[in-house]
Amino acid sequence: MTKTSQIPGFYKLPLNERLKLVREFAGLSDEEVRLLRKEGALKLEQADRMIENVIGTVGLPLGIATNFLINGKDHLIPMAIEEPSVVAAASNAAKMARKKGGFKTGSSEPLMIGQVQIVEVKNTTKAKADILARKAEIIGLANEQDPVLVKLGGGVKDLEVRVLETSMGPMVVVHLIVDVRDAMGANAVNTMCEAVSPLLERITGGKARLRIISNLTALRLVKAEAVFSKEVLGGEEVVDGVVQAYALAAADPYRCATHNKGVMNGVVAVALATGNDTRALESGAHSFAAMRGRYQPLTSWRKTKEGDLFGRIELPAAVGIIGGATASNPTARVCLKILGVKSARELGEVMACVGLANNLAAVRAIVAEGIQRGHLKLHAKNIAIMAGATGDLADRVAEQMVKEKKIRVDRAKEILQEFQK
Ligand code: MEV
Repeated sequence: MTKTSQIPGFYKLPLNERLKLVREFAGLSDEEVRLLRKEGALKLEQADRMIENVIGTVGLPLGIATNFLINGKDHLIPMAIEEPSVVAAASNAAKMARKKGGFKTGSSEPLMIGQVQIVEVKNTTKAKADILARKAEIIGLANEQDPVLVKLGGGVKDLEVRVLETSMGPMVVVHLIVDVRDAMGANAVNTMCEAVSPLLERITGGKARLRIISNLTALRLVKAEAVFSKEVLGGEEVVDGVVQAYALAAADPYRCATHNKGVMNGVVAVALATGNDTRALESGAHSFAAMRGRYQPLTSWRKTKEGDLFGRIELPAAVGIIGGATASNPTARVCLKILGVKSARELGEVMACVGLANNLAAVRAIVAEGIQRGHLKLHAKNIAIMAGATGDLADRVAEQMVKEKKIRVDRAKEILQEFQK
């Protein structure tokens, strides 16, 4: 049987039924299903080993986005997020993308940049030449720090030297370009930077200060593209609206920030579900977006000759599938299994698809019916539940409030009483 992520009515099923379907799709074990069902699956002792001063854990809803067809393969996407509508929006956009073959992706090698800042260098031009002359020796020393990574085909692949003018005078900045394979890579890179800095000090006669990874991971990029037919979007008017929305984002940082926030809704939700460092991703994405001197959209949208919508995303993805919380948080491990990705690159590519999907869904909704319609329904249901409605009654009370455009707890209580009579 070929597996499909297209599960009509998934959202209407009871939680247990959904879990059963995900279990079958991903081949989860009894233990993995138990973990997902457990409230607070991250044990206190585990949490206590992850960070300092632990007193508890924080829970977040974990949802599954359906319909993702990526390079011809079906994926169910775990997303951890507190905001309503984002999972539904991703599923909806992925459904629209399927009609034209789904998402196509690509990525660069998993290259991270480690920076060593060298100050108080008398002759920066000579220092640069001297460092480059001993490049092989420096790279060799860095690679000695992580023989396992080197054995897996990773390690330092190149070294660059930059001379920068700063408010504190000229500085030499050495970049170690490190292939980190399936790790996020910060630990490996930082260790290497620290290890080579005494040698760099001897070569340059300067002082090594910062020895740390750069979160602008501009060499570790993922991209995705998809075509959305005008019919599924709701007509050529909607296609034009999305392209105009993109044009505004490209011209105006105020809109661009919100445009990119919509992208990161998807990217970060997958990152959280899989135990990845969301701050590193945000920092990388936004600095990359501003790299050409102006803050720019992470996605681009244009109309095709046929009048359909073509979308593309490119962003840095410093994510891992080994080490860190991806290893220590048991729910993150189950999420990686559900995703079915075999490498960090593949995980990044999936995130790019989800980012593109969430961006399209948000902009399409704003351009077509307005974003509040979907939000209001969920908001109204929450208010109905707060007023004491349960099951079907909660849906009926919510519907009535939306109809009346009065979404308040006092009105919810009145409607509830009327229905209960
Ligand atoms: C809300 O989380 C995200 C949006 O504001 C994105 C956008 O405006 O494109 C809806």
